Amino acid sequence: MPIQWFPGHMHATRKAIAERMPEIDVAIELLDARLPGSSANPLLAELTRGKPSLKVLNKQDLADPVQTALWLTYYQGQAGTQALALDASATAPARQLIAACRSLAPLRGGMVKPMRVLICGIPNVGKSTLVNTLRGKRSAKTGDEAGITKTEQRIVLADDFYLYDTPGMLWPRIAIEQSGYQLAASGAVGRNAYDDEEVALALLTQMLRHHADRLQERYKLGDLSGLRDEAVLAEIGRKRAALLPGGRRNRQKAAEIAIHDFRSGVWGPITLETLEEFAQWTAQAAALDAEREARRAARRKKKEPQRGQNADGGGESN
Ligand code: G4P
Repeated sequence: MPIQWFPGHMHATRKAIAERMPEIDVAIELLDARLPGSSANPLLAELTRGKPSLKVLNKQDLADPVQTALWLTYYQGQAGTQALALDASATAPARQLIAACRSLAPLRGGMVKPMRVLICGIPNVGKSTLVNTLRGKRSAKTGDEAGITKTEQRIVLADDFYLYDTPGMLWPRIAIEQSGYQLAASGAVGRNAYDDEEVALALLTQMLRHHADRLQERYKLGDLSGLRDEAVLAEIGRKRAALLPGGRRNRQKAAEIAIHDFRSGVWGPITLETLEEFAQWTAQAAALDAEREARRAARRKKKEPQRGQNADGGGESN
């Protein structure tokens, strides 16, 4: 079942971003370096269209560095876009962010034309951690100022550099099913919007594809070749999860262990999606949407002559 989660406060965030956008010089989007395609918000792409963009692949310490480099090159190849990787261990991330923003909007700066930057990202991507580091001693939180909505905060990074922070936001319809699972696994989706077992199975599918050795290592499993996600989840249950009365394996517990281990990074640095895979999922989702739209259009067309006949018939009977 596709995962969807767009609670009311995200509508408010969307509105706040749309209102702030006209005066923004650069939009920083924080991505999860373990899911650099799935964590990119298409709604944000729409809201920030035409603005210089800085993609920050955050939590790089948890991701496969080879894949991170490939994704950075991909984003850097997009018009008006720069990309860099960060993690919470960076002691002075402001320097990198300010330099990248200045190169994206070189005409901004100085007290007359201060740089105004928006920072956004999906929930749990590490934005508060980064913003707290950025805020440090020097910069001040000025969220109570007039004209700054409650859903955003303005942080002064330098005399002529303002950062507008926004709450984590997803998008109303996650069209790529695999992305929904990965977002849920990363902790971006509310707990009640997904089923742990389904998410753990999707996670294990990607792990088997890219990092099967890490599963073997972590759970002391034998040869995994030929095994599918369900069998691996059962193995994790056998090794780690409690047994239910009657000797039945606790699949729920095994799923929780898998998700927890992914989130906390104990599997080692991993990336769940390659560029090629993500491109393929995007194309498949677009094809499904096109099919759905064609079916809808055909249904509408079928109803039209009937409506016409009904209207004619109505005229005759009167
Ligand atoms: P958010 O504002 O985007 O929702 O994210 P937040 O900063 O609250 O971070 C979400 C979780 O990710 C936190 O862990 C945080 O410590 C962790 N985190 C943030 N940045 C990084 C990073 O670069 N690398 C790694 N490995 N982890 C990062 P938590 O377990 O939810 O909370 P806590 O135990 O740290 O308090």
